[in-house]
Amino acid sequence: MCKNHFIITGTSRGIGEQLAKLLLERGDCVHGISRGNSNVLNQYKDYSHTNFDLSNITGIETLIREILSQMDLTSTEMICLINNAAMLEPLKTIDKCTAEEINLHMQTTLIAPIVLTSCFINQTDHTHSRRKIINISSGSGTYPAPAMSVYCSAKAGINMFTQCVGIEQANRQSPVEIISVDPGMVETDLQITARGKSDEDFEMAKYFKQAHETGQLLTTEALGEHILHIIDKKIESGNLVKYNEH
Ligand SMILES: NC(=O)c1ccc[n+]([C@@H]2O[C@H](COP(=O)([O-])OP(=O)(O)OC[C@H]3O[C@@H](n4cnc5c(N)ncnc54)[C@H](OP(=O)(O)O)[C@@H]3O)[C@@H](O)[C@H]2O)c1
Repeated sequence: MCKNHFIITGTSRGIGEQLAKLLLERGDCVHGISRGNSNVLNQYKDYSHTNFDLSNITGIETLIREILSQMDLTSTEMICLINNAAMLEPLKTIDKCTAEEINLHMQTTLIAPIVLTSCFINQTDHTHSRRKIINISSGSGTYPAPAMSVYCSAKAGINMFTQCVGIEQANRQSPVEIISVDPGMVETDLQITARGKSDEDFEMAKYFKQAHETGQLLTTEALGEHILHIIDKKIESGNLVKYNEH
């Protein structure tokens, strides 16, 4: 029986996969959500997975209901939602982005975490467990960058959303803790996509290449350890924390 249950989006690779692995290794139960699968995570008996495209936001309420129905929350100490899945593209100036590209990005990176948060709070209201939501944000939510306006806007939206819900929860009897975390720069497929662009198409490509060449990227293992600490610690709701500040 697990003491802690985690629902994590984007567990097929990158930060989400590594974080899920660290939690499973310390004896927690993890339910992952992504379109693809992780062969690493599938080897753990306390890992369960739903293949789901988060851009399908109208399916999220049923998705969360089904995941929660599989959990025995009576003796659970903590239930935690980690909104980690996101996309980076389109990496183009806004005049070159199509309505479809902008819509897909916003559904996946901003609206899905908002709907997941809504359903999670609503559907866990009866539990006596500690409840926590961690929204994985980005420095891009604070620092504007050319050809990244859709991603930056989605991450700025996540930060504002986190602050608003933090205020909403403040006076509740059993408040849900909610924070957003800037993970820094981490070596994953997302970074490979950014530095793989040509300098002509994406002027920020230089910056991503330089960060890689000068060894500024964290490993997912190192970031994962920081996030474990952030999970365990009580941090004031609504805060945006940098991965290494706690
Ligand atoms: N890496 C960095 O340097 C960095 C920096 C700042 C912030 N972040 C943030 O950290 C988080 C994780 O990023 P990462 O670097 O680990 O990225 P990644 O390696 O590209 O992984 C992204 C994950 O999100 C999932 N995902 C994407 N679209 C999805 C969809 N429509 N439905 C369901 N799942 C979807 C992917 O799974 P499927 O493709 O299998 O669906 C994958 O598991 C993101 O929120 C990102 O913005 C990363």
